[in-house]
Amino acid sequence: MTGQAQAIILGIETSCDETAASVVVRDQSGHGTIRSNVVRSQLDEHAAFGGVVPELAARAHVEWLDHIIAQAIDEAGIDLNDIDAIAATAGPGLIGGVLVGLTTAKALAASLDKPLIAVNHLEGHALTARLTNGVKFPYLMLLVSGGHSQFVLVRGVGDYERWGGTIDDALGEAFDKVAKLLSLGHPGGPAVERIAQQGDPKRFKFPKPLLREERLDFSFSGLKTAVRLQAEALAPLSDQDVADIAASFQDTVAEIVGFRARQALQKFAEKFPGEAIRLVVAGGVAANRRIAEALQKPCTELGADLIVPPIALCTDNGAMIAWAGAERLALDDTDSLTIAARPRWPLQDEDMRVKSHGT
Ligand code: KG4
Ligand code: ZN
Repeated sequence: MTGQAQAIILGIETSCDETAASVVVRDQSGHGTIRSNVVRSQLDEHAAFGGVVPELAARAHVEWLDHIIAQAIDEAGIDLNDIDAIAATAGPGLIGGVLVGLTTAKALAASLDKPLIAVNHLEGHALTARLTNGVKFPYLMLLVSGGHSQFVLVRGVGDYERWGGTIDDALGEAFDKVAKLLSLGHPGGPAVERIAQQGDPKRFKFPKPLLREERLDFSFSGLKTAVRLQAEALAPLSDQDVADIAASFQDTVAEIVGFRARQALQKFAEKFPGEAIRLVVAGGVAANRRIAEALQKPCTELGADLIVPPIALCTDNGAMIAWAGAERLALDDTDSLTIAARPRWPLQDEDMRVKSHGT
């Protein structure tokens, strides 16, 4: 909140396959600065398995987290004692990894006698654009990552409304599965995008599930099956076949996402007449240029601002957790050391509300 002193926050993220720590400073006016942002991806550990193996992920977090935190403190040019609060992802995510990060944060908070903030990972994504672009409330967020695909209305810290999401696979997951069936490796998104550049996006007409329905939901599993059936029908695939399938798949999802974004923006405009319309994109799939293009179109047509934070801050990182912690600390919303890690934790949960605002 404005008028409060500057705060130095350590943020810890371990909910999936990135071990990350960051130091962020929030000044009196609510402006944030990233002092360090260290991310160690476990891609190599999981590559052979074609996806994230939870037990391996947890072990790698155990092995690396202390070093990553030390590096983040060091690169920020501060001392552990300079930290005003420790924020860590408490869910949703792979529970073994979340436990490693949250328990470490509790130990630091106890030994330094500083407050702990247990951050919802999705809130970290939701608030990042305020750190990077100073975006004002309210805004619409589209989160498209390996684990989530959803539209969220962000009205304030802790004040979220889910407007729709995937009923089966997340968008990044669909990219990863298509990449796997085309033998393009993991993670699939960047590989599909690369190979799609050589392909004909109009060669195959894939289904766009749910699009006739009004609701702001996605379904990608039928599309993935259609891609598999097409690949099987053409087997053995030439390089051109692979590129054409990748391009046609990518174009189909871009159209789906662009179509839904237009609906969501219209809903936002109706709900907040006279308010600037803002669409914030988060999650790894935000790196995809074809999808960014498909999002830009309705934004331009409806006079909305499209805000895409730098891609390193769209994917999982510690700065987004530190920043969400800073926003909550400014509202005096800290957590007890007994708070539990949670594998599932929807953004619109009761306990997401800022405590001092609750009653
Ligand atoms: O946000 P993120 O780093 O991790 C979480 O899932 O939390 O997102 C990773 C996902 C993966 O599924 C990856 O394939 C996808 O984002 N992705 C992409 C691209 N880059 C990453 N999908 C499509 N096009 C890309 N260029
Ligand atoms: Zn994430």
